[in-house]
Amino acid sequence: MEFSIKSGSPEKQRTACVVVGVFEPRKLSVPGEIINQAAGNHISDLLRRGDMEGKAGTTLLLHNVPGTLCDRVLLVGLGKEKDFREKEFRDAVSTAVRTLNETGAFDASLTLTELPVKKRDMSWRIRQTTLMVFETLYRFDRYKSKKDEVRRPLRKLTLSVESRTDLSAAETALMQGQAIAAGMNFAKDLGNLPGNVCTPTYLAEQALGMRKEHKLKVEVLERADMEKLGMGSLLSVTLGSHQPPKFIILRHDGGKKGEKPVVLVGKGVTFDTGGISLKPGPEMDEMKYDMCGAASVLGSMKAIAQMALPANVIGLIPTVENMPGGGASRPGDIVTSMSGQTVEILNTDAEGRLILCDALTYAERFEPACVIDIATLTGACVIALGHVASGLFANDDGLARELLHAGQNAYDRAWQLPLWDDYQEQLKSPFADMANIGGRPAGSITAACFLARYTKKYHWAHLDVAGTAWKSGKEKGATGRPVPLLTHFLLARVGAQVG
Ligand code: BES
Ligand code: MN
Ligand code: ZN
Repeated sequence: MEFSIKSGSPEKQRTACVVVGVFEPRKLSVPGEIINQAAGNHISDLLRRGDMEGKAGTTLLLHNVPGTLCDRVLLVGLGKEKDFREKEFRDAVSTAVRTLNETGAFDASLTLTELPVKKRDMSWRIRQTTLMVFETLYRFDRYKSKKDEVRRPLRKLTLSVESRTDLSAAETALMQGQAIAAGMNFAKDLGNLPGNVCTPTYLAEQALGMRKEHKLKVEVLERADMEKLGMGSLLSVTLGSHQPPKFIILRHDGGKKGEKPVVLVGKGVTFDTGGISLKPGPEMDEMKYDMCGAASVLGSMKAIAQMALPANVIGLIPTVENMPGGGASRPGDIVTSMSGQTVEILNTDAEGRLILCDALTYAERFEPACVIDIATLTGACVIALGHVASGLFANDDGLARELLHAGQNAYDRAWQLPLWDDYQEQLKSPFADMANIGGRPAGSITAACFLARYTKKYHWAHLDVAGTAWKSGKEKGATGRPVPLLTHFLLARVGAQVG
């Protein structure tokens, strides 16, 4: 998709279609009213006749509207003006793009970007619009022999802003939106790929591929390297698999020399059968998504590289496949992590924490400003927060606040859960320093408590994205979350206004 930004005069746009919003009941948005005036009240007459109410999700396509230079005008219902918020804005953009793609219009001018959204500025609207365009058009049909080709897909989209003084800020927001969307699409593709294709080796190759395309430094540690580092916990997860483990390190050196980096750590279990503590059959296919934390790190690194973000950011990806097999860990096995702490593996299905703990210890060497891990860690998080919010845990309140705020701004929200020491009790083991499970109560919290034992040396936050990284059911597919949250967090850290 080719994007551009323009200011003013919707009636003078020479384009296949101008999109304007209509509030319920029958109230044209400001750009809509301008077109209506130029058209001698043609549109308001139609509305008065009852052709459209303005209900959210509805559209009306008009041809040959007098007084305009465009071929068509697409009216998009916005719902009631007083209820028009972030979600309604995003939905309206999505409806517009889906409809445009079906009308046969090759290019279009979108005036929805001028609609006021409470507490949000023009840059927010441009960024979110760009994200929603990509979101709406995303398909994963790599393995379909017959693809659902759109007859005449939308190719060019002009986003309008109210005034010329908005142009440069809008261009910046557009650039950010495109970079974040590219990162999300990358993360979605990786997530949607089947487990027999997206292996640890494949993830490592993808990361190495980012060296050429972007100015990222990428290094991959092999099993022998991890053995030398003493990553006994991580390596134990890989014992039942024929796929070799990889430890991926990406660096974006966009900040000043010596400036402490933000470190992102992503869980990269390319398929989670549960191991010897085998998962039940139904929906097990969805465990190909157990590397979505890793995908979100790769996606975020891609986005910030494309934006040339002026910050130092490091991505760490421990990646393995969790399989049963003759060599696999047994319940009761005890392993020694890189930190020296020992772990009794009471359930081989609690493998995410076993690979993350060694990555979190490895992160110490970067003297990080902060470390954020992202993981599809617990089914319990889906029970607690559903598919709306990601679970957030942190050992630093300032960092937690920054992440919650970034999630709000990005419309990729998280909700904080407690990390109190009282929960640590549940991880006691009679034989090792800790067990890898804490029983059914507060399953997401005890998982986070396990990780907290490895992150005492720096500010740290953990995002449990088990409920938000992908969708099940008819619309099964990776969401690209939490790339928006992470990139907004990083943008805010370098002083960009993203609210
Ligand atoms: N990858 C799963 C978590 C998961 C399960 C995410 C379902 C999304 C949907 C993780 O490795 C896991 O299996 N966790 C166990 C932990 C338990 C054994 C303590 C879980 O949540 O059941
Ligand atoms: Mn598991
Ligand atoms: Zn898992």
